[in-house]
Amino acid sequence: VNTASRDLSIESLQGSYVAEFVQSERELLAALRVDDGAFLLADARVAELYPQIVAAFGTERVHRVAATEDEKTLSGVERCCLFLQERGASRASRLVVLGGGIVQDIGTFCAHVYYRGIPYEYVPTTLLSMADSSIGAKCAVNLGAYKNQLGFFQSPRRVLQWPGFLETLTPDDVRSGFGEILKLSITGGRQTYAVFEAHLKRFGFATSEVEPMIALSLGVKKPVIEADEYDRGIRKTLNYGHTFGHALESVTDHQVPHGLAVAWGVDLANFVAWRTGMWPEADFLRVHELIVTRFSLQVRAPYDAAALIAAMGKDKKASGSTVQTILPDSAWTLQLVPQQLGGQFQTLIEEFLKTFDPFLPGRR
Ligand SMILES: NC(=O)c1ccc[n+]([C@@H]2O[C@H](COP(=O)([O-])OP(=O)(O)OC[C@H]3O[C@@H](n4cnc5c(N)ncnc54)[C@H](O)[C@@H]3O)[C@@H](O)[C@H]2O)c1
Ligand SMILES: [Zn+2]
Repeated sequence: VNTASRDLSIESLQGSYVAEFVQSERELLAALRVDDGAFLLADARVAELYPQIVAAFGTERVHRVAATEDEKTLSGVERCCLFLQERGASRASRLVVLGGGIVQDIGTFCAHVYYRGIPYEYVPTTLLSMADSSIGAKCAVNLGAYKNQLGFFQSPRRVLQWPGFLETLTPDDVRSGFGEILKLSITGGRQTYAVFEAHLKRFGFATSEVEPMIALSLGVKKPVIEADEYDRGIRKTLNYGHTFGHALESVTDHQVPHGLAVAWGVDLANFVAWRTGMWPEADFLRVHELIVTRFSLQVRAPYDAAALIAAMGKDKKASGSTVQTILPDSAWTLQLVPQQLGGQFQTLIEEFLKTFDPFLPGRR
């Protein structure tokens, strides 16, 4: 067993911070060094499942929120700020944020605007947040009917990783987290993907074994966000699978968990890369096989290429009649490839849906 520390330091333009791994709830509590200046924003479900953490802060210092997209709004942020104000939090206070990506976004927003900013520390509790969103400093809340419209880049003081939280996660949330890990493993190149593939073969989605995969994902993401924290160039490649994944989420009315939609989007991106001569057929089939076996889902909402194209046109990253896709080339390097919505591109998507769609196995 490799007991070497997996701690990872991130160079951020707002000061560097460390993603620190702990091995038990007790170690987590010790690392948090809870004192009178610490307040906790907690996912209500996590607070209920892990009462000792709440107890360490004292109930009156804990603000519980439901992890829903409705809460991830300016009014949800306002409720959190009001809580801090009512409890007399000052500029010397700090906010500890405990939960998945939803609570992370509410907490980051609140900590950044309360008194023009108080320090915050993040304790991710879902696989998606441990392996992906906990580093990179992105923060966004929803506006009206649209997701992630208001936000900024803001780093935490530190991230505390305790994979023990994953024991209480639903199997779909675990699988969803693995979808983002799949994406990052291919982003890391052929070798990194081979490590991921071998891990799945050996351990499947066992949460007790997942820590090396969290470290692998963060290791792939770190150099990318450090090189381009503000998303002007290379960081856009982290959207691999997301242009298609978001479109699928939208046409299925969010029936598909995010990370599974990303896995589906990765498959479609790889298909487009293969059919446009960028990627070998064998590589497509190899990853496709894994996605079909591990990430498939029976989706009830019917969808087609035209609906997906229409949804892509509404994406906040689309401009006019073009959308950016991120496709692998033969060296397994991700490239930004603009696509004209419609025509040739739509025909390719139709072909994918008819022959390969991992979510509609009945159609095959
Ligand atoms: N800021 C970023 O960089 C970034 C990146 C990716 C996604 N996001 C956002 O993250 C959100 C999705 O986050 P998520 O997938 O982490 O899920 P989530 O925060 O929606 O949590 C998923 C579910 O798991 C529950 N839960 C959380 N931890 C648990 C635990 N340890 N045991 C049992 N149940 C637990 C929650 O209550 C919720 O019901 C989206 O809003 C997305 O936009 C943000
Ligand atoms: Zn994602």
